[in-house]
Amino acid sequence: MKQICVLGAGYVGLVTSACFADLGNNITCIDIDENKIETLNRGESPIFEPGLSEMMQRNIRAGRLHFTTSYAEGLKDAEFVFVAVGTPSGADGEAELKYVRMAAEGIAKAMQHPLIIINKSTVPVGTGDWVADIITKRQDHPIPFWVVSNPEFLREGSAIYDFMNPDRVVLGSLHPEAAEKVASLHRPLRTTIQITDLRTAEMIKYASNAFLATRISFINEIATICEELGADVKEVAIGMGHDKRIGPHFLDAGLGFGGSCFPKDVRALEHMALIHGAHPQLLRAVLDINKHQRRQAIVKLRAMLNGLRDRKIGMLGLAFKPNTDDMREAPSVDIARQLMREGALVQAYDPVAMAEAARELPDVRLVENAYEVAEGVDALMVITEWNEFRQLSMKRIKESMAGDVLIDGRNIYDPDRMARLGFRYAGVGRGPQHSNGG
Ligand code: UDX
Repeated sequence: MKQICVLGAGYVGLVTSACFADLGNNITCIDIDENKIETLNRGESPIFEPGLSEMMQRNIRAGRLHFTTSYAEGLKDAEFVFVAVGTPSGADGEAELKYVRMAAEGIAKAMQHPLIIINKSTVPVGTGDWVADIITKRQDHPIPFWVVSNPEFLREGSAIYDFMNPDRVVLGSLHPEAAEKVASLHRPLRTTIQITDLRTAEMIKYASNAFLATRISFINEIATICEELGADVKEVAIGMGHDKRIGPHFLDAGLGFGGSCFPKDVRALEHMALIHGAHPQLLRAVLDINKHQRRQAIVKLRAMLNGLRDRKIGMLGLAFKPNTDDMREAPSVDIARQLMREGALVQAYDPVAMAEAARELPDVRLVENAYEVAEGVDALMVITEWNEFRQLSMKRIKESMAGDVLIDGRNIYDPDRMARLGFRYAGVGRGPQHSNGG
């Protein structure tokens, strides 16, 4: 059993805390938000993540998981400190490092014995060195410490599974002995552990996320071309995916990527490149195409309804992807706001993001279920591909609508079947013979 402190009770911090506790370690998780710590000590998770509350409660009961606002308490017996604080986007797309700085200063002031400090937050290349600098300068008396970068690759909605079954663990440090000790914490996960230098590890995270975002923008651009040429991007992606060099993942065309990572990390990498004199042309195109996908959905809708003023639009799904209540950078937010700016009335339903939606989109009428969304609308838009939307009676939906337009932003319905039910259907990247409206 190792003594571990985790700084930050956000997505990554909570999952890291719960999972390391479940692996038999003793964890103290620190956050500056007192209300959050109270909630957490009751065993309640402030975020929706399948399996997280249960895992937290089990480990709190077993005495292996504690939450506090006190650095002194959290660091008292710790051998390892994981930094998992937020790094939001600043005004120019750069990663905002104030929470990382606060964490480094907090550690410097409270540490009483040697520590291995592991950074899990996604931070610009070079931040590990900067953190080491802050701690050295802020310590009252010199105590040895070692900085390791350990980028986190987990996805929202499957975070526990991803933590416990990683494709790889990346550790970067100028001190291989420290990286080895962190590697030993991860041995129970039975995965490939890559040990490299600090800056390379930090770059691996950005490069991985930017590459996945590039795949999405690539297939979305192919989708736009498919629409012009009369091909079906879903079939194109299947055909491409059979090539082992390409693989089938991250080739779903749709409304583009959102969430707390891809948009922020691609922007941050672009910013890093720019300030160091590089020309990140591809990254810029990835972001442009992503914006275009959202705009394009509105362009189609506007054309099919002959304008948006006083039109009633239903939105199925609001979260940035299924199995999460997260609406950060979600396509739903941009699309709903634009529709309302153009005078449309919007009603919507999401299986779990309703509380979040009430805050983010106060002018959208939120209703109880998918069928209610369809009632009396001129057009229905699929924004998030929740499984429950795949099972709907589309006949019933069609009958309750005032109009017949169906914008399938995630390609979950069969265009021919929708046409037979009387919809004017427009998916993403499904050329004219695959839809009769797009
Ligand atoms: C992502 C990375 O996958 C993860 O490794 C990293 O740690 C954090 O960022 P997450 O933001 O939870 O995780 O979501 P993910 O499941 O990767 O999806 C990201 C976005 O891409 C979503 O908006 C999703 O709708 C979109 N997407 C994904 C597509 O549009 N098409 C695809 O084929 C796949």
